[in-house]
Amino acid sequence: MYKNILLLLILSSNFIFSCTNQNKEVVSEGTLGTLEHNDEQTAKSAETKEKTEALGVTLMQQSDCLACHHQNQELLGPSFRSVAQKYESSAKNISYLTEIISKGGVGVWGQVPMPAHQTLKRSDVEEMVKYILAVQ
Ligand code: HEC
Repeated sequence: MYKNILLLLILSSNFIFSCTNQNKEVVSEGTLGTLEHNDEQTAKSAETKEKTEALGVTLMQQSDCLACHHQNQELLGPSFRSVAQKYESSAKNISYLTEIISKGGVGVWGQVPMPAHQTLKRSDVEEMVKYILAVQ
């Protein structure tokens, strides 16, 4: 009986020891993994941002936006920088501006109206807005 308990103790201490050991390894692997993952994510989000910018610009070049809007100069419409300063890039603002661009707007920046753009796809207009709101 006594021998059995001793055996059990030895076994369980061994078990606990190996468990702790394993845990440590898992933790350090986990940390490393997270670090690498973070790096990857940063790279990915930078890449996504670049893609969004490129897409937003291309779509605006294909439409008529740049005839009335400039990055940092007021033309017929407000500069993209002013728009970005006025609205933070939130889901609510993106959806509001997408709507305005599609339906046309007047009276926010002055009395010159912006024509409607109803033939543009909503998702395309959203890309444009995301680009505009990121202008610094
Ligand atoms: C004919 C000129 C013209 C064209 C073309 C035009 N805009 Fe505008 N845009 C304006 C004017 C003028 C305003 C200001 C309207 C106002 O005061 O409410 C404006 C306002 C805006 C605003 C801010 C809206 C607000 O309520 O604050 C955004 C964003 C915008 N335009 C994006 C675009 C995009 C994207 C395109 C292309 C799809 C485009 N515009 C095409 C003239 C134009």
